[in-house]
Amino acid sequence: MEHYIVKGGNALSGEVEIAGAKNAALAILAASIMTNETVTVENVPDVSDIRALLMAIQLIGAHVERLDRHSFRINGSAINKDKPVDNEYVRKIRGSYYLIGSLLGKYCKASVALPGGCNIGLRPIDQHIKGFKALGAQVKVASPGMVVATAEELTGAHIYMDMVSVGATINVMMAAVKAKGNTIIENAAKEPHVVDLANFLNSMGARIKGAGTDVIRIRGVEYLHGTTYSIIPDQIEAGTFMFAAAATKGDVTIKNVIPKHLESISAKLTEVGCQIRESGDAVRVVANKRLLHTNVKTLPYPGFPTDMQPQITVLLGLCRGISIVTESIFENRFKYVDELTKMGASITVEGNTAIIDGVEQYTGANLTSPDLRAGAALVIAALAAEGCSKIFDIHYIERGYEDFPEKLRHLGAEIEKIDDSYDEHRFRFRAG
Ligand code: UD1
Repeated sequence: MEHYIVKGGNALSGEVEIAGAKNAALAILAASIMTNETVTVENVPDVSDIRALLMAIQLIGAHVERLDRHSFRINGSAINKDKPVDNEYVRKIRGSYYLIGSLLGKYCKASVALPGGCNIGLRPIDQHIKGFKALGAQVKVASPGMVVATAEELTGAHIYMDMVSVGATINVMMAAVKAKGNTIIENAAKEPHVVDLANFLNSMGARIKGAGTDVIRIRGVEYLHGTTYSIIPDQIEAGTFMFAAAATKGDVTIKNVIPKHLESISAKLTEVGCQIRESGDAVRVVANKRLLHTNVKTLPYPGFPTDMQPQITVLLGLCRGISIVTESIFENRFKYVDELTKMGASITVEGNTAIIDGVEQYTGANLTSPDLRAGAALVIAALAAEGCSKIFDIHYIERGYEDFPEKLRHLGAEIEKIDDSYDEHRFRFRAG
């Protein structure tokens, strides 16, 4: 079975380049088929969630041409609007639900399999449906697990989101771009990828204002045209490397980032005693001593991201004193704590709170990734641990991290993806 093997104990040092943002890319690729003209998207991360979405749009008739590892030319003029979006790939990824908004906006008709994604909570889509209905669509959840949305025409509306939802904001924004008249989305999500999608759609001729604030105003347009667009860097990949540097007492410069997007992460690392230096599009993290405890609560942007919650918990598990991590976005996001306990961590979970009594050192163990971000966090724990660890179910990690072991090796980590026992012997021989 494929897994990573890690020999911990090396302080990471050097430079790492961050890829394009997976969550922005999922939204932008889904929106790229809203025009019949050709769209070129650059800085697309080469991860399995993106490959699945590209496969899904090809299966309904979009033409996708790969220009290089990270650039695609996409043309949605030959899409069969009557063909449901449903295959094994679509059902695995969360981002496929963006095809409801894009197809509904373009054709007033969408039939898309219900989203999969990481099992970190219930993840309902009632706010998406509420938004589509406000725009004039009829929405049914039909068997087997399909969302079917249809409309005579879409008309702008004033929509108040009951909670801050990244997915619902993005989905409703896409549909509203081609609705007749004006739409206002209140209590909108402010995440960098919401802004990136709005910028992308505006570069196609959409008229969206206010993305990045909690009120987004959209004036519907009849026509969207082709464009060339480069996706923002991945805030969560960058944050993951920042925490890997801190947990291994390393010195890592994370390049190709937007430091503003990393402020909540940098602030927490500074609080626990790391030195953070920002310069242009890079952030350097230096940790040369045992770090201190702190408390953190996950919140919508610009708060501390829920997608960084497992990584900060791993770090705080090694910090002096008692730390408290409160998860306020998803109800089932501490499943990885049992794995950390196997490594010697002292963490108690009560409801949505983890109480962490920092230990001096983790010890290597056999670990299973429960989801994407928790999987990456377990890799950080293994890098900081004494001895060898194996991490299984790495297909979760590969959904969102491009070349994860290669990038870590470049920073001095001993990590290898193992396909068979020969790979493992080779690793153990090399790592000693
Ligand atoms: C997106 C990200 C995910 C990230 C999350 C929060 C993608 C593909 N995924 O997920 O990595 O962890 O934002 O930053 O971009 N909710 C409802 N009803 C809805 C929609 C959401 O109750 O209709 C709830 C959710 O259950 C959750 C909260 O609202 O408790 C926030 O979810 P949301 O922001 O929508 O997350 P996703 O878009 O699924």
